[in-house]
Amino acid sequence: MTDPLVLFMPSGKRGRFPVGTPVLDAARSLGVYVESVCGGRATCGRCQIVVQEGSFAKHKIVSSNDHISAKGPKEERYERVRGLAEGRRLSCSATIQGDLVIDVPQDTVINAQVVRKSAIDRIIERNPAVQLCYVEVDEPDMHKPLGDLDRLKVMLDKDWGWDNLLVSQYLIPQVQGILRKGNWGVTAAIHRDLEASRPNIIALWPGLHNEAYGIACDIGSTTIAMHLVSLLSGRIVASSGMQNPQIRFGEDLMSRVSYVMMNPEGREQMTRAVRDAVTELTRKVCAEGGVDPGNVLDAVIVGNPIMHHLFLGIDPTELGQAPFALAVSGSVHTWASDLGLGINTGARIYMLPCIAGHVGADAAGATLSEGPHRQDRMMLLVDVGTNAEIVLGNRNRIVAASSPTGPAFEGAEISSGQRAAPGAIERVRIDPATLEPRFKIIGSDLWSDEPGFDADAERLGITGICGSAIIEVVAEMFLAGIISEDGVVDGSLAARTHRIRQTGRTYSYLLHAGKQEISVTQNDVRAIQLAKSALYAGIKLLMEKLGVDHVDTIRLAGAFGSFIDPKYAMVLGLIPDCDLSEVKAVGNAAGTGALMALLNRDYRREIEATVRRIDKIETALEPRFQQHFVNAMALPNKVDSFPHLAA
Ligand code: FES
Repeated sequence: MTDPLVLFMPSGKRGRFPVGTPVLDAARSLGVYVESVCGGRATCGRCQIVVQEGSFAKHKIVSSNDHISAKGPKEERYERVRGLAEGRRLSCSATIQGDLVIDVPQDTVINAQVVRKSAIDRIIERNPAVQLCYVEVDEPDMHKPLGDLDRLKVMLDKDWGWDNLLVSQYLIPQVQGILRKGNWGVTAAIHRDLEASRPNIIALWPGLHNEAYGIACDIGSTTIAMHLVSLLSGRIVASSGMQNPQIRFGEDLMSRVSYVMMNPEGREQMTRAVRDAVTELTRKVCAEGGVDPGNVLDAVIVGNPIMHHLFLGIDPTELGQAPFALAVSGSVHTWASDLGLGINTGARIYMLPCIAGHVGADAAGATLSEGPHRQDRMMLLVDVGTNAEIVLGNRNRIVAASSPTGPAFEGAEISSGQRAAPGAIERVRIDPATLEPRFKIIGSDLWSDEPGFDADAERLGITGICGSAIIEVVAEMFLAGIISEDGVVDGSLAARTHRIRQTGRTYSYLLHAGKQEISVTQNDVRAIQLAKSALYAGIKLLMEKLGVDHVDTIRLAGAFGSFIDPKYAMVLGLIPDCDLSEVKAVGNAAGTGALMALLNRDYRREIEATVRRIDKIETALEPRFQQHFVNAMALPNKVDSFPHLAA
């Protein structure tokens, strides 16, 4: 008779196991990650699974509760003391009696609730780099003079299969006290990322310790965003963000590099500023989640190359000039205590690899999140900031570049531009017949021509135009015929409407005439044209490198990508022609990639391998860049067509 067939969901991994095999052992042998802290003593409750009943024709498995053993005394005791939800079983106690479909609960579902504006729902299967292991150590024996730490290692090998363990030095003086306090029961946190590296005991607690957390952090030049996650359940406990305090040294990346070049203390000041901010944000998410920072054992950090270098204490000067040399491009493994982040002394930090001198670990995170390298179709991934990071490809080939878009898309260099904040205009429509605008401001649900808007405007003020609305208003001006294909504001319209005004030798469009006048000037239109041309030219270069004349799907990452309306991006020719239903905003994809790498170390290997095979294009050195740039100055483009806009 053949052994029962067991299928684990959602991974779909399956195998045959003899009757009587503990479900936990079956999962492990198939590489299905099921948490276990107590080592099968039925005390930690971390190994819970659900038996799916019914016929699974697709998998030819008929599963029922008769196919799993009844609860034994240990599991019953756990249920009595700690409670077990309906349908849940302890996989360390339950044994296989027949064919089974087992559901391994996955709490980490990234969706719109936890990753703002993310269009992608997904489940991250866990396989973290840190594992908690409870053992009961033999008491000392005069006749067997093996040290306390050595006997602890023996038990970690015997019960958990950890051999050749390293021990963090700071723990050695504490071992005896911890073992005695726990009455010889101790929980060890074992860190192992790379298969080739030796596993390391990074923390110890007396008795059964059931909490282990990690942080996933995206250090942006403007904003630092962080998730605090339980490594045992995968649940996101808290998410928060704060402004990058380095802004006081310079708004954009190049001004921060200049600050380092011009001030002997500059690098140190900025490193301290960003580390202090990450420490403060960690404290904040821990407080929000009710988590002791001492239980944070792992951290994954992404950032653009300059943020990456400054966080590590590396002088970024080389990144400010050709050949834009990175001090380190591969992934970085280091100790949190070396960077002083206020988490467990033994905690580790993993930084994703950088793709190139201008395409950083944040782009690697976004790549991991969106997965162009897993696609058959051609995917364009764009993270727009003052420097746009662009990745294009599919499973066969993948290329990346950055393009100097400047700060116009963020509202800088625009006469009425501002950051997204209450009172900023965020949506604009212009009537092509009357040329009259309607708009919405952040903080109000109403359009400016709807009843009640004036009260909101009084309360919030109408303070300026945020980045996404600048795209929208310029596109609407183009669609209404206020600006030509060359981006020139049509002065002849001044005879038709008071909204067109002459300023010197050019004209501007009056969007709002209130306490604070808000206009779109000819210079504003030019700034947007320059920014969008730089972005489009970078994309075109990559398309040429791959020899493709279209892309199948587009992902717009970052805060800017989240708020921009894809239709307007295409009207202006920021992005190439594509079916609009295939253009998606994916929020902070870099942060999502960091979260994936935190919860599953296999993703670290995946992105390291992917980054190694990405072809890097240096836009500044490509002779064709200038030609693409000039063509892209027209709206939407002098040579390229946009058939999906017509549709
Ligand atoms: Fe701890 Fe099953 S492994 S309860």
